[in-house]
This record gives sequence, C-alpha cells and structure tokens, in this order.
Amino acid sequence: MAKGFISSSQLDNITAKLDIAEVISEYVALKKSGKNFKALCPFHEEKTPSFVVNPEKQIFHCFGCGIGGNAIKFLMLVENISFPQAAALAAKKAGISIDISGYRPEDEEKQEKLIKANEFASQCYQEALFSQQGKRAAEYLSGRNLTEKEISRFSIGFAPNMRDCLLKKISEEKLDKDSFIKAGLINGEGTSDVFRNRIMFPIFDFRGKITGFGGRALDDEHMPKYLNTGENAVFSKGKLLYGLNWAKQAVKEKDFVFIVEGYFDVIRMHINGIENCVAPMGTSLTDMHLRFLKRFTEKILLVFDSDEAGIRASLRNLESVVSKGFETKISMLPAGFDPDRFIDEYGIDAFRKMMEKSVDFLDFVLSIESQRHDINTPKGKSSVAREIMRIISAIPDEIEKTEYIKILSKKLGLKESVIENYLHYTAQEPGSSIKPENKISSPDTYAESLLLEILLSGGEYWTPFLEWNGYLSRRMEIVARTSKELLMNNIDITPANLISNVDEDTGRWISGTSLKETVRENGRKQQIFQDCLKKIHKSCISRQVDEIKKTINEKKDTGIPYNDEVEKIQGLLFELKKE
Ligand code: CTP
Ligand code: MN
Repeated sequence: MAKGFISSSQLDNITAKLDIAEVISEYVALKKSGKNFKALCPFHEEKTPSFVVNPEKQIFHCFGCGIGGNAIKFLMLVENISFPQAAALAAKKAGISIDISGYRPEDEEKQEKLIKANEFASQCYQEALFSQQGKRAAEYLSGRNLTEKEISRFSIGFAPNMRDCLLKKISEEKLDKDSFIKAGLINGEGTSDVFRNRIMFPIFDFRGKITGFGGRALDDEHMPKYLNTGENAVFSKGKLLYGLNWAKQAVKEKDFVFIVEGYFDVIRMHINGIENCVAPMGTSLTDMHLRFLKRFTEKILLVFDSDEAGIRASLRNLESVVSKGFETKISMLPAGFDPDRFIDEYGIDAFRKMMEKSVDFLDFVLSIESQRHDINTPKGKSSVAREIMRIISAIPDEIEKTEYIKILSKKLGLKESVIENYLHYTAQEPGSSIKPENKISSPDTYAESLLLEILLSGGEYWTPFLEWNGYLSRRMEIVARTSKELLMNNIDITPANLISNVDEDTGRWISGTSLKETVRENGRKQQIFQDCLKKIHKSCISRQVDEIKKTINEKKDTGIPYNDEVEKIQGLLFELKKE
C-alpha cells in the first residue's frame, strides 16, 4: 500500500477524529447490538448479519467472510479506491486538512500516463496486425481459428519485427517518450521497442483500462514464448487477472469463476459463451488475486491440463484457494489439452460436458495422491492422508474443515480421530496451559491469536513481547515491527492504528481477534502469554526443520551433498530442546 505520503501520526489523527459507525452507516444499515453495531455484510452475500462494527475500538469485522479493518480500510473497500484516496476521503469526513496535494494527484496522473501510453500502443499494434507488416501474424491467428471480429473484440494486435515501429509513431505524434519507457514499451535508453515480432494481447484491469501486454512469439523457437510487460505502477502480475474486465458480470451472475491458464483459453471460452472465466498470467494465484475475486464470488473451478506440469500447477493453487475459503472444484482436461485446444478440436458442447464432470478438490487430491502412493500399504496410506490433511488444514472455516475430515476418514477407512492428528502442528505439549477452545484449529495459529488477544487486552504485555528474542511467526513479526514503529512515533498501539499500518490479511486477523470477547483471569494471563510465545517459537523451528528435511530429501534423490542442511537441522533441534 502506498502510504509513504502520509505520516502515521496524521493517520492516527484521522482515525481518532472519525467515528467509524458514522462512516459505515452512510453505506450500510447498522443495528445496535450491545456495545456493537451489526449489519448484513456489504462485501459478501448473507442472510443473517455477521458484520460487526465496534465504535469503542473503531474497527469493523465480518465474521462471515473475514474482512475487517478500520474506517479507512472500509472506505477503500466500499468505494473501491486506493489507500491515499481513502485517507483523503476520511480526512475530509473528519474535517481535517491533510497535505496530500504533493502525492495523490501526481500518483494518479502518473498511472494515467502509463495507461494512455498503453492505449496508444495498443492502437498501433492493432493497426499493424491488419497491415502488410502483420500478414504472417494475421495468418497465424486465423490458423488458430480466430476471426477478424474476434481479434478486434479482444483488441489483439501485432508488434512488427522492427526496432522502432512504435518509437516512430511516438515521435510522429510528438508524444512523451518517457511514459512509454515507464510503461515498459520502449527500452530504458529510449532507443528501441521492447516488443518485436509478437502477437500482442492487451491486459486490462477490471475496469477495462490497458495496463500492459502479453506478447506471444510468432515463431515457437523464439524465446520466451510469452513476453509480458515488466512490473510497473499499473502492471502487476500478482494483482491482475486476464479477462476479469469481460468476466466480472458473468462471474457474479453465475456465482463461480473458471480459472484457466492462458490468454488463448480465456478468449476461446469467451467466444463460446463461457464468460465467467479468467487466467492468472503465468504465475500461480496470489493472495491478491484471490482477495479480489472474493468480491465477485466464493466459488472457483480450476481447469487444468492433466499433464505433470498442469497437475503440479493446480496443486500449488489449490492450497491457496482453499485457504482463502473458496469452495473449490477441479476439472482436468486430457493430457496435452488446454481449454483452447480442447474446444477447438471437440467443440464447446464436449467442453461443457467435461466441465460438468468437475470434482471436489478433495476427490481430486485423493486421486492424484493415490496414483503417487500405494494406498494399500500402511506407508502409502499414511502419505496420502498427510498430503490431503495439509490442504484440509488450510480451510479457514472450522465446520467445513470438520466435514472434510469426516469425508476423508470415510474414504480412507480411517478413524476421524486418527486423521485429525495430521492437522498441521496439532501436537499438544504436556503441561502446557494452552487449551485450544477448538481442537481443530492448529495451535500455532491458535497461540498467535491468543497472544494477540492478550497484547490487545491491555498495554502491559507489549514491552515483554517486543523484548522477546525467540522466533516469531510471520504475522507476529508484522505485529512486532508495526507496534515498534507506532511506539517510536508516540502513537498508541490500538487495533485501529495497527490495522492502518499492516497488510490486508494481517489487518483482518487483528480486527477479528480484537473483537473476541474472551474473558481471562488476569492471574493466568502471564502464564498463557509465556506459553504462547514458546509455542510459536517452537512451531517456527519445527517448520524450518520440515523445510530443511524436504531439501535434504531432494538433494538425496539427486545425489547432491547435504552436509550443511544436516548441520542446520542439528542446530535447530538443539534449540528446540532448550527451555
Ligand atoms: N506465460 C507467460 N510467460 C511464459 C509462458 C507462459 O506469462 N513464458 C503465461 C501466459 O499468460 C500464457 C499462460 O502462461 O497464456 C499459459 O502458458 P502456455 O500454456 O505455455 O501458453 P498458451 O496460453 O496455451 O499459448 P499457446 O496456446 O499459444 O501455446
Ligand atoms: Mn494453448
């Protein structure tokens, strides 16, 4: 998030003067409920209210979809605006004048310039495709069964095989070369086009503005096959999904989204009337992709090629999708087929039939893992259970998680209680005073949340926490870093102030945790506090050990020496034993 332009104390000032309930009530009908307000969540479909606003802590949190934060966060989400815009809006509402003049318009102007450059380039590329220079490219596309009309519909173009095709047009029109350099269309020296002899797919943001390009080599031996715009102020692979601008309406209507791998796949499906379809661009699905998709649907259908690479890719995505709480199905196409090729060869009806046969993620992983291990041997069965439980552990909803454990135990013919042992990091140490309220939740997550709860419940634990020198989990590291910054700026460590300074996921976690109303006797707090820290420390070590073990196994398989790893593991295990 770009927040450098506004200091933490200014932010603190804004959130302090704003009443979150007042801000939110402009958008949502709030009902008083005890100390809190309740409402139907504006960010997901629901019939009973699980959206809570707490005026005392100045935060909101939805216990249905997990979204949460402070007033600024709410404005960002509901108005669909950037952090600086939301901060400015919040400041206005709070009657505070903050100086963001030097920042916001400039920032937006900059982005606007890059988009203009991309739009200009896209025009050039489209013209080139239908000119003499683009003859081969046009033939190639028609060979891939795309009509001129379809090509125009997706604004596909062609960057000719020349050093300065775009450059010349820029100087003819007397445009500012700098924007084209920043947009990644012209090289850094300003002397040549970046994209040459490539079919150009403009990549739109969800509003339909061109943020960059994916350029496909015309000749297969030309590497790389796809050259994408480099990361810049408007283009970020980890955020953009190809096709979302055309898909968003259909995704909402159908209430699910097809996730495919490539540009051609998205296009082929759209042409054939399947419009709720997007693709990440050569990367796995990131948290940002998924959070963004959540605005449109909670259901994902992953479509993949059933070759080794396709399976690996879908397994990789599966865990992130499941952990974000999506209902997840998988559809495998025969090896060597992507949706584009399949539809082209067998037609859309055959494709739809294939999609109807999509399976729940559990069945998918089960069948993959049973091919990898012999499920009839004890060792094999254990490996399968372990792999699947790794994914089930990631499901955020406890009821869903329990249900999946039930299903899996039936499928494997194992007792639920046995399988539950495979939940990540469930081992309880004897004598520990941490009793999970919910047995299913993995204790380090549990310990993290408990620790955070204690930290937020009163000021006295921050100092010992910040002085602790053991390992901390990723989220706890963020909390530690942020609270230190707040302290250095003389700002109170409150949930709202923390949330202003952390990423969205951590923010949700903080808002959710701070609204928990667990009453704990003060006497035991100290003990719990210590236990949590130790627990987190130890699971961080175990996790590192697991990672290193994996590396060792890989190295073993390939015959590479692994002495360093063994030494590292010994060190870690020694630390693990220390009290
Ligand atoms: N991709 C990429 N960079 C590469 C290779 C692939 O960004 N070097 C991305 C592109 O978004 C591409 C997707 O990954 O569309 C899938 O790659 P691939 O299956 O190789 O290509 P297809 O889209 O199927 O292209 P084609 O049908 O022309 O082979
Ligand atoms: Mn393809």
